[in-house]
Amino acid sequence: MRVVEVTAYGGPEVLRMAHRPEPEAGAVPGEVRVKLKATTVNKADLAIRAGEYADVMPDLKPPFVLGFDFVGRLLDPAPGLAAGQRVAGFVPWFQRPGRGTYAEVITVDPVWLAPVPDEVDVVDAASVPFSSQAAHQALEHLALPEGSVVFISGASGVVGRFAVQHAAERGLRVIALSHEGGEGELKVLGAEHVVRRDGPEVVVAEVLRHAPEGVHGVFDPARMADPLLAVVKDGGVFIAGHESSVPEAERDIRTHAFSTASDGARLKEILERVAERRLTTQVADVLPLEEAAEGHRRAESGGRLGRIVLVM
Ligand SMILES: NC(=O)c1ccc[n+]([C@@H]2O[C@H](COP(=O)([O-])OP(=O)(O)OC[C@H]3O[C@@H](n4cnc5c(N)ncnc54)[C@H](OP(=O)(O)O)[C@@H]3O)[C@@H](O)[C@H]2O)c1
Repeated sequence: MRVVEVTAYGGPEVLRMAHRPEPEAGAVPGEVRVKLKATTVNKADLAIRAGEYADVMPDLKPPFVLGFDFVGRLLDPAPGLAAGQRVAGFVPWFQRPGRGTYAEVITVDPVWLAPVPDEVDVVDAASVPFSSQAAHQALEHLALPEGSVVFISGASGVVGRFAVQHAAERGLRVIALSHEGGEGELKVLGAEHVVRRDGPEVVVAEVLRHAPEGVHGVFDPARMADPLLAVVKDGGVFIAGHESSVPEAERDIRTHAFSTASDGARLKEILERVAERRLTTQVADVLPLEEAAEGHRRAESGGRLGRIVLVM
């Protein structure tokens, strides 16, 4: 089967197509095989490829395979799912480093799997699992009651867009930080107020203009970190997009990052909402798997809203 390997830590050019033996049924005890139709380029893929995790994973040496999201067909039956069923999910890559989804066939724990409704096409389905579950779990970590005010940075990004929609669905009042030109869309998705991207001081002042006493919580996928703490009320909560961007706690504000758990049952509900058009996803580009390096280049060059999807 074809895989895309990270052949050395470095720029997108280190990604190369290679051939590896296809896993056989039962090759990994407790796991089932999925024949992939698509995967994606996530922020974490870029960081891993560039070697940002090399120190914390010294045993992982190139060549290895990247990738979190997958959509495809089950080759083996799984509890509640027949062979041939269309499924999606994400592999918790950091728990199984090097065994990613830039591959034609992978093995997965059945608890990560959700059936893909007929109404959701392969490309949209691929863009959903990791980012939507990250956003959903960020809101659980915020643990704010209905009617609370939350500020979401990076709201025009893939995780941020899901967070705005999940937050509005939970009855939170959302102030969202928008990409230039994205203001109208974020209001349609459920934001009560939209603040345009600017320097941290301007952003803080704008948030406080909409919420003069401060917000109850922040979710920070844009990793703006410390300066944003100024918008949080005493005793509020700040959920960082990444462990490198957790502000130092002050004024009894709870601050922490989190690691997204792969949960097929949660993903099933999310994909049903996508099928019913109650939740929207955004895809920036679709490329063949063999152009993974180009996908990484495009993701790194920025300015593209939506997930880059790689199809097999
Ligand atoms: N904890 C977890 O388990 C987990 C899981 C998945 C993702 N994440 C994290 O979630 C974050 C977002 O991922 P994503 O896939 O949504 O990325 P994305 O699509 O690239 O979105 C990032 C957004 O942040 C904005 N942004 C970046 N720097 C900014 C700044 N200094 N000020 C204001 N806005 C800024 C970008 O705005 P522009 O478009 O204007 O550049 C973009 O809209 C990443 O940090 C990722 O690591 C965490």
